[in-house]
Amino acid sequence: MVSEILPDVFWVGAVDWDIRRFHGHELSTNRGTSYNAYLIRDRQTALIDTVGEPFADRLLENIRAVIDPARIDFVVVNHAEPDHAGALGEVMRHAPQATLVVSPRGAESVSGHHHQPWPFRTVRTGERIALGRSELAFIEAPMLHWPDSMFTYVTDRKLLLPNDAFGQHYATDGRFNDQVDRHALYHEALKYYANILTPFSPLVLRKIQEVLALGLPVDMIAPSHGIIWREDPLQIVRAYQEWAEQKPERRAVVLYDTMWGATRRMAEAIGDGLNAERVPFQALHLAATDRNEVLTEVFRAGAVVVGSSTINQGVLGSVTVLLEDLAHLKFRIPIGAAFGSYGWGGESARIIQERLKACGMETPVEPLRVKWQPRAKDLEACRELGRHVGMAVKAL
Ligand code: FEO
Repeated sequence: MVSEILPDVFWVGAVDWDIRRFHGHELSTNRGTSYNAYLIRDRQTALIDTVGEPFADRLLENIRAVIDPARIDFVVVNHAEPDHAGALGEVMRHAPQATLVVSPRGAESVSGHHHQPWPFRTVRTGERIALGRSELAFIEAPMLHWPDSMFTYVTDRKLLLPNDAFGQHYATDGRFNDQVDRHALYHEALKYYANILTPFSPLVLRKIQEVLALGLPVDMIAPSHGIIWREDPLQIVRAYQEWAEQKPERRAVVLYDTMWGATRRMAEAIGDGLNAERVPFQALHLAATDRNEVLTEVFRAGAVVVGSSTINQGVLGSVTVLLEDLAHLKFRIPIGAAFGSYGWGGESARIIQERLKACGMETPVEPLRVKWQPRAKDLEACRELGRHVGMAVKAL
């Protein structure tokens, strides 16, 4: 259903209540998502972003509730990933006079996805298009989160349309941040940041500084997923600044996978050691926990303690995935420690320790390994490891 979010500015997107996996199977979307497209009606009309291809009919129906799609003059593609530009083919079929407005890299990504001879107008930071009363001003935002990404600002509405930035995978009946559960909203916003934007944190900080320096008044921030920030819209900008700094918190996460329970018993004893130092921690069984929720918990932790049984002279599959994620998401976790049980070879703890070091973590204790099931002295060694890590976290 169409919502007029500001005078003559309409949300014409689609809510996807069903989706549970995103980016193929990379990202869990346990609360669904929305694909937010915005129509600005003026002397000339602009559509900012579209929706995923399966929702093209919904988008066109919403546009028709406002104007005939053939009257659209500009279709701005802030970012060409198919959740936002998938419906472009249908839109351009119904709006054949429209000019596509893209960033320089957007021309490349739109062409690469659609292979159509559409007329492009390429815009750079600072360029404007006058619609009538409103102007669209463009700000390139490369790597937030693709090279083609850009923000569109609607001058007289003081409205920032930053596409994926400041978004959340959160399907809800409310359109605005003051209409939804704040805890769920911030959980999804943080999960989005931790899983998608963390590697680009230095660019996030620079881009926020650049946009703030432009001195543009902002009354509303309307991303392309989830709710629109209407009440104190800059709160999410402040949150992004805090998240992008990745300042570690004085807490730990114990992450493990286990074949016959020995590594789990080690994890529990390590938790006892952290408890003894009064360092809050969360213990998560990697194979039994949503990968993206794990990464959200890991984001900004002061320490990660990672354990695996040894299998085939290596680590269990879920631990392999975690170690890859820690490396490629460029989390800045200051302290790491490794542990694991084994029956014959016993390589897992050492492998984990090396990988944590390669991620830039300090490893204040030697990797701890236990043969077969832990005895009382082994569990005491685990508690000792937990206490050491706890002391290191408290010293942050
Ligand atoms: Fe980068 Fe929502 O797509």
